[in-house]
Amino acid sequence: MIQRKHSTALFLVSIVAQLYLSKADEREINNVMLIKIGGSSVTVKDQKETFNETVVKWFTETIADVVSPFYRMGDTHDCALHEKPAVVLVHGAGSFGHHTAKEFNLKGYPHDNSEFNSNTMEGLAKTRHSVQKLNQRIVAELLAVGVKAVGISPCFGGLRNLDLFEEQQSWLIDVLRETLRSGLVPVLHGDACLYGSSAAILSGDTLLQMCSPLAGQIVFLTDVDGVFQSDPKTNPTAQFIPNIAVDSQGNLVLSHVIQATESSHSHDVTGGLKTKLAAAIAIAASGRVVTIAKSGSLSAENVLRGEGGEDVRCTRIFRQD
Ligand SMILES: *[C@@H]1O[C@H](CO)[C@@H](O)[C@H](O)[C@H]1NC(C)=O
Repeated sequence: MIQRKHSTALFLVSIVAQLYLSKADEREINNVMLIKIGGSSVTVKDQKETFNETVVKWFTETIADVVSPFYRMGDTHDCALHEKPAVVLVHGAGSFGHHTAKEFNLKGYPHDNSEFNSNTMEGLAKTRHSVQKLNQRIVAELLAVGVKAVGISPCFGGLRNLDLFEEQQSWLIDVLRETLRSGLVPVLHGDACLYGSSAAILSGDTLLQMCSPLAGQIVFLTDVDGVFQSDPKTNPTAQFIPNIAVDSQGNLVLSHVIQATESSHSHDVTGGLKTKLAAAIAIAASGRVVTIAKSGSLSAENVLRGEGGEDVRCTRIFRQD
């Protein structure tokens, strides 16, 4: 898998880079939680450019509660207060972005981008503008609850063209590390990018995988409790899978039949649950625990607070050597 190769290389880059950090810097960024909230959680399905107000509030208030005070306004920089994690946030596009991407026939990276036509760049510009509105709103809500959040659009900065994915990936890691060290919470989003001479969508899940070398813990917040053996929305008796062990190659240790993790929108251009699970497995294969939990649930709050326990309903994906 193309992204796994990237993340191994990046992991090495991140180890080398970390050796150069001062001790104080290390304290801030050694405990990084990377959190992705799905577009289908944070927006209203099938209603173009509509926020799910309840979930936006829940998410931003929960982040304010779990993040290290170093990332909150008025921090006194007292070392004793810094046991809570630094966080890097990534959100999908949901009804922001996906409707426009579909209208203009933009595909999710790394799928074939050959259907370039005279409207492709119009689609790229409009899709990007749409998802940036969602990003602005999430950043505004985080600021309102005292979190020093900054929106970062991955494409058209150092990540200029997805054709050069590998070469440009370390740029993103550097930006995130510098941002965290400064006491700022990066808020990234799935984005519309140049891809060769055409355009493609960089999904929030692929982005999460790119950022994963920075993080000790990775959490996906979705619109279902975790991984089921079949789609729980169409099959109410679908069996829940709390643990998935993978080897270092990303093969499932016990071969579960997994058909669905999240309901996918009819307009989802980035592959929905399949890309999510593939990203989660590739990250877990690199030795990091990935947890999938439901947005807005008490279980998700426990996961984000680092509290485990029997009654926490979530799926954990981890490496078993
Ligand atoms: C917002 O999300 C919550 C939790 O998933 C869900 O119960 C609610 O129906 C959603 N609201 C809308 C307007 O879709």
